[in-house]
Amino acid sequence: MKHQNTEFKKLEKSDLINLHKWLNTPHVIASYENKPSSFEEVKSKYITRITGEDPTQSFVIIYDNKPIGYIQKYLVSNDHELKNYVNGESVGVDLFIGEPSLIHKGLGSRILQAFLKKHVFDENNIESCIVDPLTTNASAIRAYEKAGFKHFKITDDQESKYLMIIFRYEVL
Ligand SMILES: CC(C)(COP(=O)(O)OP(=O)(O)OC[C@H]1O[C@@H](n2cnc3c(N)ncnc32)[C@H](O)[C@@H]1OP(=O)(O)O)[C@@H](O)C(=O)NCCC(=O)NCCS
Repeated sequence: MKHQNTEFKKLEKSDLINLHKWLNTPHVIASYENKPSSFEEVKSKYITRITGEDPTQSFVIIYDNKPIGYIQKYLVSNDHELKNYVNGESVGVDLFIGEPSLIHKGLGSRILQAFLKKHVFDENNIESCIVDPLTTNASAIRAYEKAGFKHFKITDDQESKYLMIIFRYEVL
């Protein structure tokens, strides 16, 4: 796929319609969200990220000038489970490409690499970044490997997650 420009726009109220559509797309339900969501459920979950009450920072992925998906970052120290597995200042990232026609074409790994430079390691105190796909999410794991992440732990909670990490010196 020809490489186009990727940008990240802060999530706004007007994006909730797209977010609701994407979160109800079968490939996103299967690997990101677990179940369909009503518009009201999506709004009440994500509005606090728009107002800033929830410190998770949310962005729309803009590819070739079109909104195609969602990406968020949070401080691992704010996550009661993941903070037990990582030393130092670390950021966790979650993402999905909402448009089914655009998955598995090499975009996800490139989006993640761009996000690391623009919105993760732009903050000087951040030493590492982690992603936590389910152990069953083979295509996400492969995409993250291609972006440079390395596996370091499988969590032992109910849904086992495949933790992967990348360090500042590997990106900048
Ligand atoms: C995860 C996601 C962002 C990755 O983006 P993407 O553009 O699809 O990823 P890429 O095309 O860069 O890489 C996917 C890789 O998985 C491979 N792949 C696809 N299906 C696979 C499968 N069933 N088993 C193993 N590998 C698979 C692809 O061949 C590709 O590897 P390759 O380039 O070596 O051939 C995207 O697929 C997505 O949004 N999925 C739904 C939501 C989700 O799972 N989010 C992540 C939650 S942690």
